[in-house]
Amino acid sequence: MKAWLLYLFMMLYFVKISTTLDNGLSRTPPMGWIDWERFRCNVDCNNDPNNCIGEKLFRDMIDRIAADGYKDVGYEYVNLDDCWMSHERDENNRLTANSTRFPNGIKSLADYAHSKGLKLGIYEDYGLLTCAGYPGSLNYMDIDAQTFADWGIDYLKFDGCYSLPWTMNKGYPEMTRALNKTGRPIVFSCEWPFHQQKASIKPNYKLIRKNCNSWRNFKDVQDSWDSVMKIIDFYTKEQDTLIAAAGPGGWNDPDMLIIGDFGLSYDQSKSQMAMWSIFAAPLMMSTDLRTISDEAKEILLNKEVIAVDQDALGKMGRRVISRGSVDVWSRPLVNGSYAVVFFNKGSDGGPSNVTVTLEEIGFTTTVQKYALRDLFLHRFLGNYDVRGTFETSINPTGVVMVTASPVKINKYRTTNFWFHC
Ligand SMILES: *[C@@H]1O[C@H](CO)[C@@H](O)[C@H](O)[C@H]1NC(C)=O
Ligand SMILES: *[C@@H]1O[C@H](CO)[C@@H](O)[C@H](O)[C@H]1NC(C)=O
Ligand SMILES: *[C@@H]1O[C@H](CO)[C@@H](O)[C@H](O)[C@H]1NC(C)=O
Ligand SMILES: *[C@@H]1O[C@H](CO)[C@@H](O)[C@H](O)[C@H]1NC(C)=O
Repeated sequence: MKAWLLYLFMMLYFVKISTTLDNGLSRTPPMGWIDWERFRCNVDCNNDPNNCIGEKLFRDMIDRIAADGYKDVGYEYVNLDDCWMSHERDENNRLTANSTRFPNGIKSLADYAHSKGLKLGIYEDYGLLTCAGYPGSLNYMDIDAQTFADWGIDYLKFDGCYSLPWTMNKGYPEMTRALNKTGRPIVFSCEWPFHQQKASIKPNYKLIRKNCNSWRNFKDVQDSWDSVMKIIDFYTKEQDTLIAAAGPGGWNDPDMLIIGDFGLSYDQSKSQMAMWSIFAAPLMMSTDLRTISDEAKEILLNKEVIAVDQDALGKMGRRVISRGSVDVWSRPLVNGSYAVVFFNKGSDGGPSNVTVTLEEIGFTTTVQKYALRDLFLHRFLGNYDVRGTFETSINPTGVVMVTASPVKINKYRTTNFWFHC
């Protein structure tokens, strides 16, 4: 490698280190499961013992993730959201789990997750109360961080209800420090920019990135296509800010995957998976893995799409073309390939066709030919000239997702990387 190039890489490396939360975690976006979108604050264990926020639900999900292939493709964190706590702190001001719903406590649940090779995450709030009205961490950050570390917690989602958004630039870093002081590596997932944006405060993403491994910047996802579209629209509109904010160690979080729930069609489910992956977003499922359909499961387990999400370069994709109802998104990958999503926002009639040149998408033209592979059909589509056209047909509210890898050409033969696999 040329010396100046090496120097450039080293510079970039050190710049990254100095601006990222230095806890060694989330070098690629976190993957796992969290209860909120699907199970909410259902605390009625008497009448609904299988679906209430209690030990059984989380043990069941840990079992399913470990046994049904989710762990094998990278899903790792099993997270409790709001409503796990008792309404009162104990005599030492420590949080305690609701003892009827979590009779063995959180530590035993963490031990159980760890015994299956998984990790356990938990939820708290920066303010006076959590969104559902349980005790918040305000004035108790050190105690709470230590409690979580003592329990063996691996991930903290830190909400921002019942707090003052203009104090967050000081307040969230306090929790970052409290977590660091415990000495336990704990992924720190913040809702800091979302709550500030709601209050018309412009988030300081540099500071946020320095203190959090991921950050929510838009409303909670609901179980509908309309909700998913609103999130995608926000990410499109804000892409310059969001692309600059994210990278290894810290990620934009568009919220949970609702694939497997009630609101999305088959095509829309693939769209959420593809868009979240082109965003380099955390892939946190919120669905009932005990009863999920084979179709939805197959989407969540799509290794080729997950590989794009988890690409080591960690570069969030950009919308590069908007033509009629079709948006084209692209992100560069660490191996010199690109991932591309053709997203048809339209919901009218049948499939929409779009024709683009690879050059238009932004591929480097120093490479003459690219091998395109469809990540949902799991099929090689052909070698395409960088200045030639590529036409594809995209279902309403659906996607076509491909990777494009440079084809090596030499005097003696033409090889396409895919033939090695
Ligand atoms: C705490 O911060 C220091 C300095 O940034 C870092 O080296 C260390 O790994 C951190 N520890 C944890 C547990 O996050
Ligand atoms: C535990 O949750 C139940 C609802 O499932 C509630 O009735 C009870 O008051 C809670 N206990 C504590 C100590 O918060
Ligand atoms: C580059 O990485 C992507 C994502 O992991 C993969 O789909 C593609 O096949 C890789 N290309 C080559 C040439 O290895
Ligand atoms: C749309 O594109 C597909 C290829 O993806 C092609 O087979 C079909 O003929 C095209 N339809 C129209 C109307 O151009």
